[in-house]
Amino acid sequence: GPFMAEDRNMAVVTCSAPVNIAVIKYWGKRDEEAILPINSSLSVTLHQDQLKTTTTVAVSRDFKEDRIWLNGTEDNITHPRLQTCLREIRRLARKRRNSGDENCNTFPTVSYKVHICSANNFPTAAGLASSAAGYACLVYALAKLYGLEGELSEIARQGSGSACRSMYGGFVQWVMGEKTDGSDSIAQQIKPESHWPELRVLILVVSAERKPVGSTTGMQTSVKTSPLLKHRAEKIVPERMKEMTEAIQCRDFESFAQITMKESNQFHATCLDTFPPIFYLNNISRRIINLVHKYNSHHGETRVAYTFDAGPNAVIYTLHQHVEEFVEVVKHFFPPEENGGHIRYGRPRYPPPPLVLPPQPSRPCP
Ligand code: DP6
Repeated sequence: GPFMAEDRNMAVVTCSAPVNIAVIKYWGKRDEEAILPINSSLSVTLHQDQLKTTTTVAVSRDFKEDRIWLNGTEDNITHPRLQTCLREIRRLARKRRNSGDENCNTFPTVSYKVHICSANNFPTAAGLASSAAGYACLVYALAKLYGLEGELSEIARQGSGSACRSMYGGFVQWVMGEKTDGSDSIAQQIKPESHWPELRVLILVVSAERKPVGSTTGMQTSVKTSPLLKHRAEKIVPERMKEMTEAIQCRDFESFAQITMKESNQFHATCLDTFPPIFYLNNISRRIINLVHKYNSHHGETRVAYTFDAGPNAVIYTLHQHVEEFVEVVKHFFPPEENGGHIRYGRPRYPPPPLVLPPQPSRPCP
């Protein structure tokens, strides 16, 4: 719960939230304002030991205005999506207060201004789902501050679509929903992380550069221009959601890995089908894709899978017994000495070393 200062004029809460990496991709909105997707999606939430966002929210009678700091620098509080999240949380808090819940007295006044401090323990520029962890963390921290419980992924979704999936650990689906008000477009946990303890995630940082086309504008152009995206949303994703859910329930790595790679490839194919086309993968990304396929066929089974979001960095899913060998293979083909010891902008960098991340054990935790 919130830490209340002696004079009860100030309350502070700090929370952290994890990153999630989609294996069935979200790409395209049917409603820009409410952030409603054209298809359901599914992701794995990563452990917070390696990647997380930490957010502190404070309210006080003495604060003159709402303010936000990101990674130590003050940012623009008037950002529409940030405003939506603040408004929706305050609406919920007022609703609860008006319902006459006695516990409300222990929580701060809704009309006080809020100060928000948020930081990532990983480079924001690397494009590693920082908005997902960021909005999940903000919504969770504010909910704790006002003592709100229950369905909060609907609010996180309105910050950034993929953020709703970071509200849960383990294997999480974002159900697209049907309603126009978005109340059924929410995240749900399919299985907790304990369901598949052998699963591992490696992140190969190909480039720490900022992506040229952001997800929001990229998917807008794709919805307008790509017939492949339409076909994918209507026909292919519903089938793959079923297959992927089954693969996870049965811990069937072969199926899990194959659907993951096909999903990544189709997502990047819709980017190429967008007009004008969007290129997120580079030559290094493509070399990693080839390497994974050669490695798997060498072993006569699917031991590793790649997936790429809106950038060139590779996320690898594998099982713990294959991590060591695959990391050696990556180091062999992308020798660290050739790539220098330092981050060189615009230059590939391997591996940093690859991060080994088990699925994440908990919800965003206070
Ligand atoms: C390729 O959630 O960043 O990572 O809703 O516009 O904020 P907005 O987009 P965002 O898109 C993520 C796209 C993706 C696929 C995924 O995570 O499912």
